[in-house]
Amino acid sequence: MAKNNKKEEKNEKNEELVEESFREIDLEELPNVGPSTAEKLREAGYSTIEAIAVASPQELSSAADIPESTAAKIIAAARKFANIGGFETGLTILERRKNIGKITTGSKALDDLLGGGVETQAITELFGEFGSGKTQICHQLAVNVQLPKEKGGLNGVVVVIDTEGTFRPERIVQMAKAKDLDPDVALENIYVAQAYNSNHQMLLVDNAKELANKLRKEGKHVRLLVVDSLTAHFRAEYIGRGTLADRQQKLNRHLHDLLRFGELFNAAIVVTNQVMAKPDQFFGDPTKPVGGHIVAHTATFRVYLRKSKGELRVARLIDSPHLPEAEAVFKITERGIEDK
Ligand SMILES: Nc1ncnc2c1ncn2[C@@H]1O[C@H](COP(=O)(O)OP(=O)(O)OP(=O)(O)O)[C@@H](O)[C@H]1O
Ligand SMILES: [Mg+2]
Repeated sequence: MAKNNKKEEKNEKNEELVEESFREIDLEELPNVGPSTAEKLREAGYSTIEAIAVASPQELSSAADIPESTAAKIIAAARKFANIGGFETGLTILERRKNIGKITTGSKALDDLLGGGVETQAITELFGEFGSGKTQICHQLAVNVQLPKEKGGLNGVVVVIDTEGTFRPERIVQMAKAKDLDPDVALENIYVAQAYNSNHQMLLVDNAKELANKLRKEGKHVRLLVVDSLTAHFRAEYIGRGTLADRQQKLNRHLHDLLRFGELFNAAIVVTNQVMAKPDQFFGDPTKPVGGHIVAHTATFRVYLRKSKGELRVARLIDSPHLPEAEAVFKITERGIEDK
C-alpha cells in the first residue's frame, strides 16, 4: 500500500514535470517582440519559443525584418524560456520511457517487424510509392489506437494532419466496424486538420499541442499524431528554388516539434513520405524519400512499403538501431490492414 502511494506520488510528480515543461509562452512575451514582429515570425514558421531558440540571428533577422543584433537578443531570451539543451535526470527519462505504448497495425506480421506495433514517443516513417498503403495504415492506426490495451490499442484519441486531402471518414467507418467499434464514436475520436502549405503544417503541430492539452483535461489522451504526407508540401514548394538547405532546416525543425509532441503526450508519431518508383526529370533523385538524411536521422522507425500481387503489400524495416532489417507481408482489404 505504502509502496503504491509512493508510486502514485512519483507519477504525479512526473505529470507535473511534463506540465511544467509544457507551459506555453507567447512570442509576445519575449523582449523586442511586438505584435507585428510576432506575426512575421509566425508567418515564417517560427511559431514557438523553441523554434526561435534554435534559429540563427541571420535567419530570424530576414524572417522578421529586424536587425541581426535585435534577432540575437530575441534568440537569447527564447533560449532562457525554452530551456533548450536543458538537462533532465536519467530517472525522469527512465520514468517516461516506462510508459512507452504500442499500437497494433492490424497485422501480426507487421507488428512483429516493428517489435510489437507502432511505438509512442517515437517517429515512425512510412515511405513508398503511390498506392503502397501509407494512407491505409494511417487510417487503420487511427482506429486501432482507440481500442483497449488488450486488443492492441491505447484507449486513445488521434490527431491527423492531412496535407493531401486523403482522409476518408467512410474508410474509418469500414475499419471501425471490422473492429466492433461504434463508427460514430470512432470518428468523433479523430481530430483532422488540413494543412494548406508547409508553414501551416508546422503551425498545426502547435495547435495540436493546445488541443491535446485541452482534451487531456477532459480525460481524453492523444496517443497518435499522423502527418500524411510529411513531405508533399515541402517537396512542391521548394522545387527548383535552389533552397534545399532552407527546406531541410524547416523539415528538421518540424520533425523535432513532432518528436517533442510525442514525448510530451506519450503519443506515437506516424508520418508518410512518398517516393516515386520511376525517376522523372523534375526533381533531383525522385526515388529517394524527400528530406533524405534529415528524416532518416530523426525517425526512429523507417518502414519501406511496396506493392505486391493484388491486395498484398511488403513492408521492410530500414536501418533501425535495435531491430533487425527484415520484411513482412500484409494485405489491404475492405476490413483494413490484415495478415495475408
Ligand atoms: N476500401 C478498400 N478496400 C480494399 N482495398 C482498399 C480500400 N481502400 C484502399 N484500398 C487499397 O489501398 C490502396 C491505396 O493505398 P494508399 O492510399 O494507402 O496509398 P498511399 O501509399 O497512401 O499512396 P499515395 O502516395 O498516393 O498517397 C488502393 O490502391 C487499394 O489497393
Ligand atoms: Mg496516401
